[in-house]
Formats: sequence, structure tokens, C-alpha cells
Amino acid sequence: MAFKLRKAEPRDVSDILRLVKELAKYEEMEDQVILTEKELLEDGFGDTPFYHCFVAEIQGESSDDPKVVGFVMYYFTYDPWVGKQLYLEDFYVMQEYRGRGIGSELMRHLSDLAMKTRCTGMMFVVAENNEPSVQYYKRRGAEDLSQEEGWRLFRFDKDSLVKMGTPAEE
Ligand code: COA
Repeated sequence: MAFKLRKAEPRDVSDILRLVKELAKYEEMEDQVILTEKELLEDGFGDTPFYHCFVAEIQGESSDDPKVVGFVMYYFTYDPWVGKQLYLEDFYVMQEYRGRGIGSELMRHLSDLAMKTRCTGMMFVVAENNEPSVQYYKRRGAEDLSQEEGWRLFRFDKDSLVKMGTPAEE
């Protein structure tokens, strides 16, 4: 079955949200997705896009519209030691369309983009229990920095930020 990759457009936000939720469900964290289509639209397609996506679509049966069946979401980050980096945020292909090279093609697009924009690497986080993905990335040469360099992933939640941002009382 033929598929086509293209840069996401504003009209894709409902499909992107659908796939984000499917991936979150796969990771058993669906209830944590609170983002809406409106936010995805504003954040990805406003004056300062905070993320970018490539989507994979297949032609539907007969005259059906093409159907979006997979995507990668990424953005650029900066490492003060080595410069520009890509950050791979989400990577997902619907179950019934896996194993046909769509994921590899999405990765090829990202790798091409990284080369064209002179990025020195691509960072991403994988859930420890997502062993198929850990192996998928390792087979393609990814290093496990938690294991090899001891980095730990941290986050300040909104309450902590509010506390830090509030001026101390005299
Ligand atoms: N289900 C899962 N993996 C399959 C598969 C299937 N039905 N059929 C084949 N694969 C494996 C292949 O062995 C292949 O691995 P290899 O090339 O290293 O041997 C690999 O998947 C790539 O195949 P490809 O067809 O290019 O990729 P894909 O379209 O199946 O997409 C993923 C790959 C990871 C995006 C997809 O499996 C997926 O969405 N997984 C669930 C979500 C996920 O874990 N995302 C990553 C979060 S960090």
C-alpha cells in the first residue's frame, strides 16, 4: 500500500491529537493528555511554532480522502557544547499500518532534516517499559544516556514554577 509523507498543516491538528492520544494510550497514560486542538493549532502554526510534525498518509478506499496513519513531532533545541539538536517528541504509526516501512521513512525524513539544518544529534526519551522501542532505537545506533552517562530526567511542575517565580516576602 502506497503512503506519502508531508509536513503537517493546520488542517492536520485533529489527526495529530488523535495519534497523540493513541500513543499515550499505548503507553498507558492516556488520561494525562489534556491538550486541545485549539492549543495544538496555536502552538504549532502561530508566529512562533513550538513544534513541527511530519505526517504519513495513505490513500483511502476508492475516492476516500487520504488518511493520516502516523506522525513524528519534533522541535529544535540547543546544546551549548555542540550546538543545534533535534528533539524527537512523539513517533507513532497506527498498529494496522506498522511493519510497512512508514516508521523508517519518517525517521529518514527527520535524519535528512537534521543533516540539512546541521544538527549534531537527536535527543528523545523512551519509557523504560517500552522495550520494543528501546530495541528499535538501539538497532539504529541510539545510545542510552541514562545507562551510559547517568543523566536523570527532571521536571518542575507548574506549582514549583509559581513558587520560584513569586517574589520572596520581605
Ligand atoms: N508492530 C511493531 N513493530 C513492527 C511490526 C508490527 N506489526 N512489524 C514490524 N515491526 C518492526 C520491524 O521489525 C522493524 O524493525 P527493524 O527495521 O529494526 O527490524 C520496525 O518495526 C520498523 O518497521 P517500520 O515499518 O519502518 O516502522 P513502523 O511503521 O512499524 O513504525 C514505530 C515504527 C515504532 C513508530 C511503531 O512500531 C509504533 O508506533 N510503535 C508504538 C508506538 C511507540 O512505541 N512509539 C515510540 C515511542 S518512543
